[in-house]
Amino acid sequence: MLRASSPGGVAPRDPLSPGFLLGERPVASLEEYRALGGWRGLDKARSMAPAAVIAEISASGLRGRGGAGFPTGTKWASVREGGGRHHYAVCNGAEGEPATFKDRALMRANPYQVIEGLLIAAHAVEAIEAYLAIKASFTPERDALTRALAEIGAEGLTDDVPVFLVTGPEEYLFGEEKALLEVIEGNDPLPRWLPPYLHGLFVTDPQLGWAAHENEPGHDEGHEANPTLVNNVETLANVPHILAKGSAWFRTMGTAASPGTVVCTVVGDIAVPQVLEVELGTPLQEVLESCGGSLPGRSFQAVLSGVSNPVLTADQLSTPLSYEGMEAAGTGLGAAGFAVYDDTACMVELARSVSRFLYVESCGQCVPCKFGTGEITEALDRLRSGRGTNEDLDRIQSRLTIVTDGNRCFLPVEERRVIASLLLAFPEDFALHLEGPCPRPRELPIPKIVDLEDGKVVYDLKQATKLPDWTYAEG
Ligand SMILES: Cc1cc2nc3c(=O)[nH]c(=O)nc-3n(C[C@H](O)[C@H](O)[C@H](O)COP(=O)(O)O)c2cc1C
Ligand code: SF4
Repeated sequence: MLRASSPGGVAPRDPLSPGFLLGERPVASLEEYRALGGWRGLDKARSMAPAAVIAEISASGLRGRGGAGFPTGTKWASVREGGGRHHYAVCNGAEGEPATFKDRALMRANPYQVIEGLLIAAHAVEAIEAYLAIKASFTPERDALTRALAEIGAEGLTDDVPVFLVTGPEEYLFGEEKALLEVIEGNDPLPRWLPPYLHGLFVTDPQLGWAAHENEPGHDEGHEANPTLVNNVETLANVPHILAKGSAWFRTMGTAASPGTVVCTVVGDIAVPQVLEVELGTPLQEVLESCGGSLPGRSFQAVLSGVSNPVLTADQLSTPLSYEGMEAAGTGLGAAGFAVYDDTACMVELARSVSRFLYVESCGQCVPCKFGTGEITEALDRLRSGRGTNEDLDRIQSRLTIVTDGNRCFLPVEERRVIASLLLAFPEDFALHLEGPCPRPRELPIPKIVDLEDGKVVYDLKQATKLPDWTYAEG
């Protein structure tokens, strides 16, 4: 059953049963949030022992909405039980996945529930500080969060755990959790080796076993891991509701393995692009229909969940939007940001566009990733323009097998998943390009979203001029 669309999207199908995350309209003040039942989750959590809070989240079956669907309770327990003197909690609001705008919609609609979720998480993992990280370009979200933090601070509600708002760069890797911690520490978004629960914030003597600078105050041991929790905005937005209404309530929605709702973004060749909240398990087809379906006279050909998972083809649109449903279809739910392509789109151009994005955004710390995505992109470029040969197809296949070698992060796995799936699902498109130029020469810009309101989506067209060294071409 569909729940709600974002403010400005098409009318919700079931207005009597609005999505509990997006709500019917933006929440304008802490007072209004309280009147809607806000803050009850935090009050309850603070009356409970941290381990009991984690047990409640585990019982709810909540899974991370940042892409991997990792069980939230398990993650919280590993941070809390991770030793070390200082723990930290971080809300990942970098939202850089193409075709995804749900975290920004949530921060605009209700910054209070995101902050409340972060404070509950901080209590559960016994964090001494909490961080909210968003892109510097997210002006409406920064304004909403700043306003909410000021109101919450004025009431002394964050006194035991200070919350800091950090703004970061445009790079895709900013949202990768190990790079996110680097940005919070004032560095470039280059992923570290170890995950945040093993190598957290402000570690003075990291995994290499030597210290380049003095220990931070309060640390006198050699190695302190500072286990740090990183959760996505939507994951944390669910938390106050689970604490306030209970894990059994949460499990009345969705499926046994994927309880709750998911906030989807739908863009591309679709009548009304929008952000909408649906119960997990809702068939993708139903979501597409509620976005007005395909453009007149066209039919759906392919759907990508961001740039992270294998393509879904037109015959797979009945796939339920749940972690297990998407996995059974050979793909993944990811961050539920769907880029839809109809029968006017060329699948070779789609592969080139995704591969170029990942090549440009790869940081180059791992050679097979940067060079592999680069060589695949070059070969796809030649194929798209009709200059390609069988050697290019062979080169793509061979590079896909090694692009993930020694990878610090998941980015090259995304390259392998998306490009290999397009080769497999659309062999005739690739074969046609060996005979001449593209029969459907339509550019497919990477759907990196700048704004999405009132059924209108704005993509970041500057991305097309971004170069592999993270500078931009002139003109
Ligand atoms: C290249 C890359 C980019 C990512 N970007 C984001 C992002 O913008 N926002 C996000 O929440 N997670 C992003 N992730 C996933 C995070 O690393 C991390 O898994 C997530 O924030 C964990 O939160 P969750 O457990 O609540 O899902 C990205 C991962 C990769 C590999
Ligand atoms: S795998 Fe690629 S993007 Fe990730 S750290 Fe290595 S080079 Fe950078």
